[in-house]
Amino acid sequence: MRAQGGSDTSRYGRGVRRQLTAFEYRNERLHVEDVDLATIAREIGTPFYCYSATALRRRFLHLRNMLAGTGTSVLYAVKANSNLAVVHLLGGLGAGADVVSAGEIHRCLAAGLGANTIVFSGVGKSRDEIVFALENGIRQINIESEGEFDRILKICDEFDMEAPVAFRFNPDVDAGGHEKISTGRQTDKFGLPAATIRHLWSRARAHPLIRPVGLAVHIGSQIHDVGLYRTAFDRLLDLADALDGVSSLDLGGGLGIAYHEEEEAIDLDGYARLLADIRRRTDAELAIEPGRWLVASAGVLVTGVNTVKQAGSKRIVIVDAAMNDLVRPTLYDARHPVWPHREATPPLFDSVVAGPVCESGDVLAHDVLLPGLDDGDLLAIGHAGAYGAVMASGYNGRLLVPEVMVDQDRHAVVRRRPGHDEMMALETVPDLQRHDTVR
Ligand code: LLP
Repeated sequence: MRAQGGSDTSRYGRGVRRQLTAFEYRNERLHVEDVDLATIAREIGTPFYCYSATALRRRFLHLRNMLAGTGTSVLYAVKANSNLAVVHLLGGLGAGADVVSAGEIHRCLAAGLGANTIVFSGVGKSRDEIVFALENGIRQINIESEGEFDRILKICDEFDMEAPVAFRFNPDVDAGGHEKISTGRQTDKFGLPAATIRHLWSRARAHPLIRPVGLAVHIGSQIHDVGLYRTAFDRLLDLADALDGVSSLDLGGGLGIAYHEEEEAIDLDGYARLLADIRRRTDAELAIEPGRWLVASAGVLVTGVNTVKQAGSKRIVIVDAAMNDLVRPTLYDARHPVWPHREATPPLFDSVVAGPVCESGDVLAHDVLLPGLDDGDLLAIGHAGAYGAVMASGYNGRLLVPEVMVDQDRHAVVRRRPGHDEMMALETVPDLQRHDTVR
């Protein structure tokens, strides 16, 4: 067990203050805005996700202000966090939505967004999803394959419905980041090459019910290098110039955040300058689809310490949240910071934070410095507002993790913890098994 002292507290202490304006220690206890996390834990138990409404507002307004001169609309990528309360809050501030399924359209409509602010992306939309989107008057469908184009055409003919469409361009840019979230290379499953789009664009223009409005591009997620965007957007503009009647450009999401002190977030000034440059080069309407940048740092996953054990040279803190609640560390080797609820004092110990799921991969954080901890102490996993609760499952018979929204000194459960009966409610032992007996 290696104890660390003094300035090492900065490994999480300063992180809290610099990156999470709405999360801070007051009286040595971690607060979300004016609410002590322990208050919520006492009320609903752990684990739970906790979001700050103020942080969500600040981040959205900051991004929108940065892009103000460029007339760019912000379409929130709902996949990052599709809780109705989050979508409602961002929609209320003027965000449109980027969705990838009928389920996300349902969520946006339920949260009060207008269908005409919703763009439907995704590489494998089903016939039913396309019909549902068109019947609801969606703003635009981003087409990702020739097969999908043909399917939309058939649906339009069959239902005599108009379809506003854009084509998702694959610019063949390697956006770096994690292999599993890079989407803009030629061999990725996403988007279409320029030659195919040129061909489909003229077919679309010739069809009475297809309304080709523009082009879309999205090269990946957690991008830190504005230069990659520049390359992709240059190629997109070249393609737009070669087509007649391109009136909108959807420039995708992917803006990277700093999960740690030593990581750099995307240079937002540089990104805004790039969009201003695009604005000068085209009359088309511009939109972007950020997800992570808006919501990640507005949320934490709060978990209770179950026990602390020593495994060889490792100090393992077993908590009550697991990979089924936050899969990012297991799936992408993502490194989230861990902040103890009780502000730490030395000595600090190199620790692994692991969940109760029966897999060695069920680790929420490696190599974090944590103080002495007692059973029942709380830890907050930072920057967990994006791709956290939305990717949760009931693996190992665990209950889906609840979500809480804090706004100044008030808080509300925005998804409650289900009971075990509810978790099993969709399942049945069918009649055909009536001869099986349970001994
Ligand atoms: N637009 C499209 C077409 C997308 O596919 C995505 C993300 C976004 C926008 C939003 O990207 P963002 O701004 O959030 O980077 N689960 C992974 C991230 C998957 C991203 C998938 N597509 C993670 O936890 O890192």
